[in-house]
Amino acid sequence: MPDTLTVTDNRTGRTYELPVANGAVRATDLRQIRVDDNDNGLMSYDPAFLNTASCVSRVTYIDGDRGILLYRGYPIEELAEKSTFLETAYLLVHGELPTAVQEREWTHDITIHTMVHENIKRFMDGFHHDAHPMGMLLSTVGALSTFYPQATRIHDEEQRRTSIWRLIAKMPTLAAMAYRHSMGFPYVYPDNDLSYVGNFLNMMFKMVEPRYQPAPEIEHALDVLFILHADHEQNCSANAMRSVGSSEPDPYSATAAAIAALYGPLHGGANEAVLRMLERIGTRDAIPEFLAGVRAGRERLMGFGHRVYKNYDPRAKVIKRMAEQVFSVTGTTPLLDIALELEKIALEDEYFVSRKLYPNVDFYSGLIYQALNLPTDMFPVLFAIPRTAGWLSQWEEMLLDKEQRIARPRQVYLGPERRPYVAIGQR
Ligand code: CMC
Repeated sequence: MPDTLTVTDNRTGRTYELPVANGAVRATDLRQIRVDDNDNGLMSYDPAFLNTASCVSRVTYIDGDRGILLYRGYPIEELAEKSTFLETAYLLVHGELPTAVQEREWTHDITIHTMVHENIKRFMDGFHHDAHPMGMLLSTVGALSTFYPQATRIHDEEQRRTSIWRLIAKMPTLAAMAYRHSMGFPYVYPDNDLSYVGNFLNMMFKMVEPRYQPAPEIEHALDVLFILHADHEQNCSANAMRSVGSSEPDPYSATAAAIAALYGPLHGGANEAVLRMLERIGTRDAIPEFLAGVRAGRERLMGFGHRVYKNYDPRAKVIKRMAEQVFSVTGTTPLLDIALELEKIALEDEYFVSRKLYPNVDFYSGLIYQALNLPTDMFPVLFAIPRTAGWLSQWEEMLLDKEQRIARPRQVYLGPERRPYVAIGQR
């Protein structure tokens, strides 16, 4: 059987044979389909990219119907159990798990870049006391580009490598500075003897003790959460990273764009939105009324539903198990009871069942962050830190892909036809 698609244009009666490769036809192959010489050719119309592959990728694989997520071929459940965040970041960026020597070098290369220029403090100081930390993060990551003008040399592999180390290394530093600014606490310098996550906790929570030692269970829980959030193929923020990166600015600017995309409540802002929703519901008794609001379209059950998963999000499964472990140490909260009850009812409710709406990664992550004493408006920031490794992997893959060019979608124009300008007095 040939790998082709035969299309008949009923407007002209002509038939075309389009090649099919890797389960896709090329949208540009449709352009030969024309009614007459004035026709620019057929386009595919796909608002919000519901069925359009914008790239080939070898980074992350999702099978949404079966609830499978692989980074470079490795199942997320195995990485969450056996890997560390930094090792997973290496895997995403380089395509293979590191050898012991490579892992040591990678850890060293990231760790020596954890400091930020002292001037960054002044940027931070300029923010209002109640500025959202995501706003502070995206602005200061964008500002980093001005400190590293050589990072614009994106076709130089060495420059790309250094930018990747710097971005992965400095993200926790900037995130912690944003938090300390909002609390009015002095900034804490990195402690490079600690692990990636341990140092982040140090920069967040160190007070007057001479040396901060993170609690091992908390360090481990956060490390697992970072692994789970490290990449998720062509989501909204990865698409922003690729799209902005395709015009070839430095990667700090492209990462700032990706953070902005992540900020929204339908994406990385959902973990914060889940917690605020649970607080608003307040008691188990109020759940039926809340769900009635969802069914009536007045409410949205945050932390439920996904563009790709039409099954339980595999990350949510790991997180739910981890939530049980964390809560066995920290003690449970009333919000967890509400979340468990909400999930139970929703999974049996016709509205959610018929739409294949299951809990996603954000449903329980916020509860864990809260149990770890992390403030609610920092939740999206906690998503952005590990996702940086995924963004950078996607960005470099895009740059090295000979088929990629500046991202520039087409449109179906429905506005007015050409018309003459009318002077203001005659309108
Ligand atoms: N609560 C209530 N109804 C929902 C929800 C929800 N959370 N999600 C989807 N629906 C309904 C939606 O109204 C639509 O119903 P109908 O067919 O009657 O119009 C149907 O389910 C299909 O949903 P959709 O909005 O067309 O799906 P989408 O693929 O465009 O949106 C989503 C995906 C994640 C934006 C959406 O499910 C949502 O808003 N969820 C809540 C926010 C959230 O948890 N986001 C985190 C996503 S996972 C982490 C990440 O990638 O950032």
